[in-house]
Amino acid sequence: MAQKKHTILIIDDNPANLEAIGACLRLTQEQYTVITAPNGQEGCQKAIFAQPDLVIMDWIMPEMSGLEALTLLKGRTETQDIPVVMLTGLGSAKHVEYALNAGAADYLRTPIDKNELLARVRATLALQDSYKEIKHQREKLETQNHELLALNQEKNEFLGIAAHDLKNPLNNIADLARIIEQDTDSMTLAEIQDFAKLIRESSAKMFELVRNLLDVNAIERGGIHVQAQHFDLVPLVNAVIETYTQRAASKGITLHFDYEREEMFAFADEHLSEQVVENIISNAVKYSPHGKNVYVRIKDEGGRMQQESVADSDLSPHTSSFLRIEVADEGPGISAEDMKKLFGKFARLSAQPTGGEHSTGLGLSIVRKLAEAMHGKVWCESQIGCGATFIVELPTTPSSSAPPTETGIV
Ligand SMILES: Nc1ncnc2c1ncn2[C@@H]1O[C@H](COP(=O)(O)OP(=O)(O)O)[C@@H](O)[C@H]1O
Ligand SMILES: [Mg+2]
Repeated sequence: MAQKKHTILIIDDNPANLEAIGACLRLTQEQYTVITAPNGQEGCQKAIFAQPDLVIMDWIMPEMSGLEALTLLKGRTETQDIPVVMLTGLGSAKHVEYALNAGAADYLRTPIDKNELLARVRATLALQDSYKEIKHQREKLETQNHELLALNQEKNEFLGIAAHDLKNPLNNIADLARIIEQDTDSMTLAEIQDFAKLIRESSAKMFELVRNLLDVNAIERGGIHVQAQHFDLVPLVNAVIETYTQRAASKGITLHFDYEREEMFAFADEHLSEQVVENIISNAVKYSPHGKNVYVRIKDEGGRMQQESVADSDLSPHTSSFLRIEVADEGPGISAEDMKKLFGKFARLSAQPTGGEHSTGLGLSIVRKLAEAMHGKVWCESQIGCGATFIVELPTTPSSSAPPTETGIV
């Protein structure tokens, strides 16, 4: 890699000195870029705007002395790290002391010895380069440290919520089992069966949470494989609806299904698509009040330009088409505030399950990652009090872009 050319600013009221030092620096093999200033004020301004790698400054100058200019440069954030070499006359030991105390990196006695000048300039610049490198590395480490702290914090929150969510059903199971164990003789068969049912329901909650946690963990570690293929979405969505029909009916909710063609083929992972559809249909049933309707529709979005292709002039515009699965409910809807958190982890928001169902707040965060891993999208359109519509878009053809790496999904 080519060495960066250093810029040196010389500040001196004596034009002959400016000329002599400048010539000496320009003629070295390093070929420094030299800029000059005839007084302290102009020198400080040039230092601020040109950000030289080194300043060589005379001590005695009219109006603003070298010491004043040095103090000014060291007092400003834009210039405090620029090393300054002061020029001091012979026999001015006090000046040297003042200059070093005021932050000068080094000093040179006048009249200047050419070799000494070059040696000091090289040494100061080498130190400055090391200092910049260390500063850069430190900033990088600080950023990484912040990121790690944030990740650790998120992990702790994740663990805390997960442990808390597991504790309640686990307590239930332990209590019910203890009662059965102690009171077996006095309990009727029907009571024992009731307790067994409660134990099973608590286990189901724990199982759901553990499954969700494993999904999130697998997604974040890049352990989910997307096996994209052509498959018909109609029977898949229909099968999910059928599994929820009874639960919906128990809440007086009617599920409607509408699709544009008998066969509607998507190009995605069939199992992951089912997981996505299942999550949003289960939510619609879970958060809708008694007696409402849920409308599930599959629509063909036809062809449209892929944005990334259009933006890249090297690629010819690529057209891709999508199928949309819309799940519209007549439930409480989602407020603008909740909307911001909707697809985040552990998003248990204002809407509460209407039939005592369990809520982990993880479902939609998984849905979004899965949809994106399949080159699809998911979003929600809603107004508080007016129901919510969740829309999932899945491609119908293989994507022209590389598989997404952001989610770490392979
Ligand atoms: N169809 C919906 N209508 C209203 N609110 C919803 C709907 N779907 C999801 N929500 C809200 O978003 C939150 C997150 O949903 P989700 O990630 O699926 O987790 P969970 O269903 O386990 O709570 C829910 O707790 C709920 O408050
Ligand atoms: Mg859910």
